[in-house]
Amino acid sequence: MESNRNRLIALLEENKDQYISGQKLSEQLNISRSAIWKHMKELEKDGYEIEGKSRKGYRIISFPDKLSENTLQWGLKTKWLGKTIIHRESIDSTQFLAHQTARDGAAHGTVIIADEQTKGKGRMNREWHSAPGKGIWLSMILRPQLLPYLAAQLTLLAATVLADVVNEHIGVRPQIKWPNDILINGKKTAGILTEMQAEQDQIQYVVIGMGINVNQAEVELPENISYKATSIRAESGKEWDIKELIQQILQTFEHAYESYIENGFPEVKEKWESYGFKIGEMIDIKTMQDEWRSEFLGIAEDGALLATDREGHETKLYSAEIKWFEDGNENAEDK
Ligand code: BTN
Repeated sequence: MESNRNRLIALLEENKDQYISGQKLSEQLNISRSAIWKHMKELEKDGYEIEGKSRKGYRIISFPDKLSENTLQWGLKTKWLGKTIIHRESIDSTQFLAHQTARDGAAHGTVIIADEQTKGKGRMNREWHSAPGKGIWLSMILRPQLLPYLAAQLTLLAATVLADVVNEHIGVRPQIKWPNDILINGKKTAGILTEMQAEQDQIQYVVIGMGINVNQAEVELPENISYKATSIRAESGKEWDIKELIQQILQTFEHAYESYIENGFPEVKEKWESYGFKIGEMIDIKTMQDEWRSEFLGIAEDGALLATDREGHETKLYSAEIKWFEDGNENAEDK
């Protein structure tokens, strides 16, 4: 059951444009007025700014910077995404909790967010560095009415959402490295991990995990990885409000998802390609069977990578390793 504290915050939020009397709060929560007063003092200690006026009551002025279910939902303009947010200060991985919560029946649009992950998981079971308070580590649970093979398109959609948020709110134009790494100035700043529980012809749920390096200084970025990492701060020269960025991501995602469900993949493909890294250039591709130099032609109608095969014919690839060379260093990642 929801705590009195959370219900009190919700009541203050609902009445944010007016005062609400101590009497009314005490009636609604069924607790004494002195208990209300004690809660208010606790909230102030936690960084909530609350104005109390005699004969008028209480009014909330601002929420603290710290992430919590309440602070994340304050001002979040979505219809269904993030209506339930589960926030943890520290967790092994938001993916693990998302799977567990989804198996327990969590609603479409439930979002799990942590300040820190101790076992952050990247693609191909790689480790994902998730330093406390420096980035966005979130997993969203979706229950799309789609055939399972289309889930890969959701990953590409998620990449365009992150690219749009970086482009429009940070003011830096990123690129997307197939299928879904977000690069700024050729270095990786965000990654997406999509996992799914499905039967043959039906998705039970999809978990889209997003990891975004936001406020790490250059010296705080991981080095012992196979690609060059960066953060939004390192590339934009300033720190960003993590809560606001999360809200932008959720709002942009909800909008893009609804449009995808209504209009299908073509718009996503067009947007993805507008951010696509190395489209029209030569890349080195490695699959389980072969390794060759190819022209990267873009993405196919179903989201596959379109490239040329050894004979120069167009071919579709669903799982491959792309390599490229920057400053004499080889960057390679398995897909
Ligand atoms: C990649 O390898 O590029 C994907 C990284 C995905 C990391 C995110 S952080 C939130 C969620 N929880 C995890 O453990 N991983 C994903």
